[in-house]
Amino acid sequence: MWQFVLTSTKDDNTDGDSAYDGEYFSYDYSRPWANSVTLFAACLTDKPFRETTSLTSSITRGRLENGRKYQTLREDYWGPSDGQQFESMEMIHLMFLIHDHLEPNPLFRSPIKDPKNILDLGTGKGDWAIDVADKFANATVHGVDLFPPPSPWVPPNCYLEVEDILQDWTWRHKFDIIHLRLLFGAFTDSEWEDLYGKCFANIEPGGWIEQVEGDVRVLCDDDTLPADSSMASWGPQFLSCGERSCRKLDTIDTFMARIKKAGFVDVHEQEYKFPVGPWAKNKVYKELGKINMMHWDAGLEGWALWLLTKYGSPTPWTKEEVQVYVAKMKLDMKDPKIHSYVRM
Ligand SMILES: C[S@@+](CC[C@H](N)C(=O)[O-])C[C@H]1O[C@@H](n2cnc3c(N)ncnc32)[C@H](O)[C@@H]1O
Repeated sequence: MWQFVLTSTKDDNTDGDSAYDGEYFSYDYSRPWANSVTLFAACLTDKPFRETTSLTSSITRGRLENGRKYQTLREDYWGPSDGQQFESMEMIHLMFLIHDHLEPNPLFRSPIKDPKNILDLGTGKGDWAIDVADKFANATVHGVDLFPPPSPWVPPNCYLEVEDILQDWTWRHKFDIIHLRLLFGAFTDSEWEDLYGKCFANIEPGGWIEQVEGDVRVLCDDDTLPADSSMASWGPQFLSCGERSCRKLDTIDTFMARIKKAGFVDVHEQEYKFPVGPWAKNKVYKELGKINMMHWDAGLEGWALWLLTKYGSPTPWTKEEVQVYVAKMKLDMKDPKIHSYVRM
């Protein structure tokens, strides 16, 4: 369980101006609740339920490729399922925790006070599902992914399950909230359509879908990101990999229209900016920037390897070429003169 304190001690180690200039702050977490929301939308439907499935040992072993471990249920998903990638997921969860620490309910924006059934699609390490189950003890929370999460402790009302969410859903009940976070590049256009159709059909009348996505492009508002840097090339590079793989990585710009198309109403959107590095003056954003560096440090290789060795331009890259690119990214990320951020 996360427990940490950010103090109001002034830190003058700030380099340059920041879009986040503001107050220093102080807070104390004893509960790991948090979440961010890019979009949430209500559903007004009703439909019956199905059965559930079980796990085999081959699923838990995974598949090794270029020194990283991948799940075996789908060959077309880009992300590794191993300790290093789970570490990066832990960091992103922590970042959303910090960002939303002042929210009355930092776990989700959907206006539901007493949810009974909650579903987290593509739960990854399972931190969001675990924290929601911990906070809402009367709810049942299902977190589902292609690979079993390594979580050593799970609340009794939390079920971390291995399923391909593109297959028929087998839960026996509908959900008050269906949550998705960072599933960019996971699905083709028609798979997204099918998935939102499943969500719509499996939400209680008046229930909510809530999705958080991230932009692969690294942004900068004050011209400190050199146009010929690795960081500047990162977004376009991966957007083109996504195009070639037929699983686009621009989900952050497309999911709202898709959710509306599926029939959801009362749609809301909120945009976050997470700095890369501790360059922001505002205490919260400085902390976010520091953790984002750890997030990137753990995550970069896993984000890049599969996509670039299969869909890199002009031809698929070697593992070594990817590792050099990742090393350059880490240098850019640590350059205090660059004031970069990512959109969530
Ligand atoms: C980038 S991770 C995000 C994990 C988690 N939502 C978070 O915010 O930390 C995306 C997750 O979606 C899972 N995923 C991708 N395709 C899936 C599918 N068809 N069924 C279930 N999970 C899937 C991946 O295995 C991966 O763990």
